[in-house]
Amino acid sequence: MANDKMWAGRFTKSLSQVADDFNSSIHFDCKMYKQDITGSMAHAAMLGKQGIISAEDSELIIATLGEILADLNEGEIDFDMTAEDIHMFIEMELTKRIGDVGKRLHTARSRNDQVALDIRMYLRDETNDIIALVKKLIGAVVKVAKENSDAIMPGYTHLQRAQPIVFAHQILAYGMMFERDITRLEDAIKRMNKSPLGSCALAGTTYETNRDMVAEKLGFDGVTLNSIDGVSDRDFCIELQAAYSTLMMHLSRLSEEIILWSSWEFKFIELDDSFTTGSSIMPQKKNSDMAELVRGKTGRVYGNLLATLTMLKGLPLAYNKDMQEDKEQIFDSVETVKKCLEVYIPMMETMKVLKDNMYKAAQKGFINATDLADYLAKKNVPFRTAYKIVGTIVGECIEKGIVLDEMPLEAYKAHCADFCDDLYNEISLETCVAKRISKGGTGPDSVKMQIEFLEGICK
Ligand code: ARG
Repeated sequence: MANDKMWAGRFTKSLSQVADDFNSSIHFDCKMYKQDITGSMAHAAMLGKQGIISAEDSELIIATLGEILADLNEGEIDFDMTAEDIHMFIEMELTKRIGDVGKRLHTARSRNDQVALDIRMYLRDETNDIIALVKKLIGAVVKVAKENSDAIMPGYTHLQRAQPIVFAHQILAYGMMFERDITRLEDAIKRMNKSPLGSCALAGTTYETNRDMVAEKLGFDGVTLNSIDGVSDRDFCIELQAAYSTLMMHLSRLSEEIILWSSWEFKFIELDDSFTTGSSIMPQKKNSDMAELVRGKTGRVYGNLLATLTMLKGLPLAYNKDMQEDKEQIFDSVETVKKCLEVYIPMMETMKVLKDNMYKAAQKGFINATDLADYLAKKNVPFRTAYKIVGTIVGECIEKGIVLDEMPLEAYKAHCADFCDDLYNEISLETCVAKRISKGGTGPDSVKMQIEFLEGICK
């Protein structure tokens, strides 16, 4: 009931039901129950060690919190959805079980530093899970790359056929993006990993606490140095959401390609039946719904980032209730990113690559024209001149409805005397790919090096 509030002492009226419902956050912050209890255990241990509460009380609190944790894990008890938030619920449950001893837990602490602690711990756990999933995804990328190191396809710019590449090279580009996503997430965790507990409401406390001890117990790399900052900072939510958004943007670009490549117009890949859907009216349809959903869900992850940025922008220091809004947004992003990765990994692993179709597409579109210009340039024709000659030849081929490989040598010679019959080997797709020897290029040594690099990341 509303008048049972822990803070009811100074009030003459109880909170209206509609305000109580509006204020309550338990239906979403109950997700952080493990972190809340673990944080409280460390706090109780510190209170005992510092002699702020007795050793017996400290031990009883810790043991009972352990029981509450086990009961929640096993579904022995349910969250009380009339509680104001997860912190109040756990404390109420503790007091229900051990009476006055339970009431000592909140000494030298406030919900402001408690929630700041819980959310950091929650996001650290969840982001580590996300990193593990991204590593698995890189593993799937490497698998596809290894199987397709020789699959020649057109590389695109402006979605126009540009130069021949191998499919491994294209897919490894995404592997590199995902590798950077991991470093962005790790970097954000590193900055976030300072314990705010002991900041109390905003100004610190008169008790002789040991914040470092709590921080160490909970796996933090130290404590926040300004208590006002400790309770009011949520920039780690922004950083993480920016990193999640970037990861989603990468997944969304890959999704766009997967959708295109699956179309009849491309037919470069075929997704497994178990990751595609049919149409309710068109019997022939096989749709890339998973990739489309990932592309679509990118929008909500961006939206959550913007919502948190906007929520924080005008807040005076220190804690304000507005900040309760941080959680649903970032929880939604965490869940969305995880679900997208969980579906993406097996979808990639089971995807069939249609090498022949890629090769056929590479034979059209004059994607070896740069190589023909390079051929002349290597015979000492200035590159700009060579470029112009080849441009004219391409125009002639288009008119005749042939490709460069089909143009007879005499016709070439009419454009430039430096053409010899070795040109045909020089502009074969295999040569074009094999000769891209520059570091990071589509040549075999470079592709091998890229695979090795990413294998090192995902093992
Ligand atoms: N449920 C609150 C939140 O998520 C916990 C902190 C409450 N602090 C307070 N001073 N009312 O932000």
